[in-house]
Amino acid sequence: MKKLLDVISEYVAQAFRALELDEKYAQVVWSARPDLCEFQCNGAMALAKTAHKAPIQIAEALAEKLWEDQDSMFEDISAVKPGFLNLKLKKEFLASYLAEMQKSPRFGSDPLSKTKKIVLDYGGPNVAKPLHVGHLRSAIIGESIKRILRYMGHEVIGDVHLGDWGLQMGLIITELSERKGDLPYFDPDYTGAYPETPPFTIEELEEIYPTASARSKEDEAYKERAMAATHELQSGRRGYRALLAHILTLSVGDLKKNYEKLKVSFDLWKGESDADPFIPDMVEMMKAKGFCYESEGALVVDVAEETDAKEIPPCMILKSDGASLYTTTDLATLVMRMQELSPDEVVYIVDKRQELHFVQVFRCAKKTGIVPENVSLEFIGFGTMNGKDGKPFKTRDGGVMLLSNLIKEIEERMYERIMETDPEAQEKTARETAEIVGLSALKYGDLSNQASKDYIFDIDRFTSSEGNTGPYLLYTIVRIKSILRKYEESGRSAEDAGIGPASTDSEKNLMLRLAGYNAMIENAAEEKAPHKICAFVYELCNAFNHFYHETKILAEEDEKRQQSEIRLLMLTKDVLLQCIDLLGFEAPEKM
Ligand code: ARG
Repeated sequence: MKKLLDVISEYVAQAFRALELDEKYAQVVWSARPDLCEFQCNGAMALAKTAHKAPIQIAEALAEKLWEDQDSMFEDISAVKPGFLNLKLKKEFLASYLAEMQKSPRFGSDPLSKTKKIVLDYGGPNVAKPLHVGHLRSAIIGESIKRILRYMGHEVIGDVHLGDWGLQMGLIITELSERKGDLPYFDPDYTGAYPETPPFTIEELEEIYPTASARSKEDEAYKERAMAATHELQSGRRGYRALLAHILTLSVGDLKKNYEKLKVSFDLWKGESDADPFIPDMVEMMKAKGFCYESEGALVVDVAEETDAKEIPPCMILKSDGASLYTTTDLATLVMRMQELSPDEVVYIVDKRQELHFVQVFRCAKKTGIVPENVSLEFIGFGTMNGKDGKPFKTRDGGVMLLSNLIKEIEERMYERIMETDPEAQEKTARETAEIVGLSALKYGDLSNQASKDYIFDIDRFTSSEGNTGPYLLYTIVRIKSILRKYEESGRSAEDAGIGPASTDSEKNLMLRLAGYNAMIENAAEEKAPHKICAFVYELCNAFNHFYHETKILAEEDEKRQQSEIRLLMLTKDVLLQCIDLLGFEAPEKM
């Protein structure tokens, strides 16, 4: 279905043509002054020079021309100094647009005709380390972008890209070897099969890593052993690979549970270690084609470009001891992705502090031909989630906040709020509601900010049912559901009714907001920007609540008018539900 702005612009273009004005200036936009008009065309200003006329004269001529049409789509057209053309839609026209929108299965938004195969790299948790808030943003933003792109028709493959190949693995192996050194995994001469059950539990694993990490910071020899173990693991030592497999099984099971709670899912559970088999050939290719050279023992590829404002250091391919690095696994992962998936686009949703790493990886991948020119590599860097003190979010005692604890805190706060408003509420129902609404508070609090910006995690603000928050949206949806339920329970039906012209300004405003849905969603997908959906739903909820407070929907005596209002509510609810689904959360039945 055509976007409302296009329909209006095409109509206005006729007047441009009739006056022999270049119609490329006929583009109509949403009004910057909604108190004065709904739409505006600023073309007269741009045309003034070539037309040798004052902009206001052009705007006036256009207004006059547009008034000539008896069946105009406008109820008001005015030329305003210095040369704006201010427009207001006829209520009937707007109603017919909404009626069409209501009939369309996707509220007037068509899937794209040209779609792509996109690999989305998000989540990025590190195996054996518990999920902390740093990984929260990647998961929340990535999940929403995945849903938005799929909605537009793209084929999207979400890959969690586990961190399972770095020093943390060597640290765990080293600590284990000190604690349980007589296990067969540590015997280099052992050739038999290894036990099927892991020699530790997930709880132990979560304790082993921080212990080992702390010790490596004080004990240099220990750290060196861990680095050696990492290297041996990467070189294929059997016992260590078997341990890695155990660590992965336990960790992935645990991660899946956590992500499920966040309603985040992945199509692929690949890790850095899966790229390992691709490293030798990749390095050979880079050597054979002369892309890399030795620098202080390490193997590097130059990626600096003449136009760089600041220096981009060479991309390290292998360390002097032959060990692979973060860049190595990311490059080899691209080799693997090109071979196994051959995507049109690979998009990374990672902390913006890793930008330099991705500049190096992308340039190196293009330069060496790992990724062909026509495949796009995109880095979406997100900002930090800060505490109220403006510093990265921590626990009360200054430690790293675990994601599971953060979720518990939000749910607890939400539960308190529910019990405050409704002390009679049943504990079980209140807890269930708190879980659903808590997730909206967490996700919306994050997604409503432009991803690249830092934001302040404010549990009181996020869980409030007033203001630009997840709970506010859900309250609005629940309110609409409740009106619709009461209407139905009274035995009435708006089944065959359509949406009629607005009777009030607030109703018309609600209709206008709704009509912007298809353009908004296309733009959010184009820019991979969930915050655009947030801004839209917030405005839509405000428009609805304004309308609701001014209108006695259930007590309306004019049956036709009431049916039209009910249909409008249904459409509002459906659009809101679609939007929150794209953001990655749900609404409860009651609140
Ligand atoms: N595991 C990494 C971290 O915790 C994030 C991985 C991001 N994705 C990637 N392909 N490098 O920092």
